[in-house]
Amino acid sequence: MDARSNELSAWLAAIVDSSDDAIVSKTLEGVVTSWNRGAERLFGYSAAEAVGQHISLIIPEDRKAEEDDVLARLRRGERIDHFETVRRAKDGHLVPISLTVSPVRDVKGTVIGASKVARNITERIHAEEALRRVHAELEERVRARTAELSSANESLRVEMAERQRVEQERIQLLTRLVLAQEDERRRIARELHDQLGQQLTALRLTLETLKAQSVERSDLRVQIETLEELARQLDEDVAFRVWELRPTVLENLGVQAALTNYVRHWSKHFGIRAQLLTGQSTDERLTSEAETMMYRLAQEALNNVAKHARADHVDVVLERSAEHVSLIIEDNGVGFDASNAETIGEGLGLIGMRERAALVGADLQIESTPGRGTTVIVRAPVVAPAIKSA
Ligand SMILES: Nc1ncnc2c1ncn2[C@@H]1O[C@H](COP(=O)(O)OP(=O)(O)OP(=O)(O)O)[C@@H](O)[C@H]1O
Ligand SMILES: [Mg+2]
Repeated sequence: MDARSNELSAWLAAIVDSSDDAIVSKTLEGVVTSWNRGAERLFGYSAAEAVGQHISLIIPEDRKAEEDDVLARLRRGERIDHFETVRRAKDGHLVPISLTVSPVRDVKGTVIGASKVARNITERIHAEEALRRVHAELEERVRARTAELSSANESLRVEMAERQRVEQERIQLLTRLVLAQEDERRRIARELHDQLGQQLTALRLTLETLKAQSVERSDLRVQIETLEELARQLDEDVAFRVWELRPTVLENLGVQAALTNYVRHWSKHFGIRAQLLTGQSTDERLTSEAETMMYRLAQEALNNVAKHARADHVDVVLERSAEHVSLIIEDNGVGFDASNAETIGEGLGLIGMRERAALVGADLQIESTPGRGTTVIVRAPVVAPAIKSA
């Protein structure tokens, strides 16, 4: 060898030695022929210990077959690129490496050995494992949270269903109550009419006869006439109550006719000016439940006016749009604090009104200011196409 090529090999040897990677060469039989500092660091064997030994020195028992395969491929002149495997260091611990093995040829091109470059990939493997662990942990937390949420969801669903059931039951009970109330009112109306009404008629007839027979008795005449007037008033009162209890007009002619009638009678009975105002007149009917609700609500509101308002004027307005029927009862009486729950809770009237309205899906509003009168507004949706009763 001349000086130049000596210098070159020294130069190459220095490069190999200073590499961080383990660089090892071996014969085709697997005998180590060179071992750089990187290999010393990675595998723990010094060059003196390794050179001349078979490469199986650093191959774990279960990887022996792998080396046979590598050697076979080398003999065929193949190169093995970035092959990941493990090797055993001198102190026994396993080192994960990425391995590149290339055939080494002589000047004639015959493969005479191999060079192996091994890179320590412990850190990468650790990082990958840590990543996998974090990932698995995250997945576990997501799973646990999802399970938690779905069980919370489930109990919420159960609770909602329970509430719905209770509400449904309440509505059913209320409906039955309202229907029973209407039945009871009809029954009382019938009895009042059939019994009291007949007795009153008999009383008036008797008084008439008495009056006819006592034409000569001017002393009795005044008393008889007083009795007659009392009987007339009683008769009228009973008729009013009967009619209040049993709105046959409502059944036959609908809410508008019934209300017109009711407001007129009510006004006369209590001596308070009142009138029913309607928008464009329509004989379309609401459902019978909604009509009864409107009628009873007007009754209760007018009752309240007579009882509490000290009003001298009431407007009752029945309005109809494409989707709603509204009933407004407006008095010019003393008013009350409608926002005060205690006042509202005093009687059953307002509460009953609200419940009856809710049963047919109507909306009730009470507006009142002390000294400025009271307005009750109920707005019912027009649902079923109206069926006209005969
Ligand atoms: N038009 C009104 N003018 C003035 N105050 C009213 C009017 N309507 C209701 N109120 C007040 O609201 C309260 C509650 O009315 P609600 O109809 O609920 O009960 P009530 O008439 O006292 O008793 P009930 O109707 O059970 O016989 C009344 O006590 C009254 O103070
Ligand atoms: Mg009342």
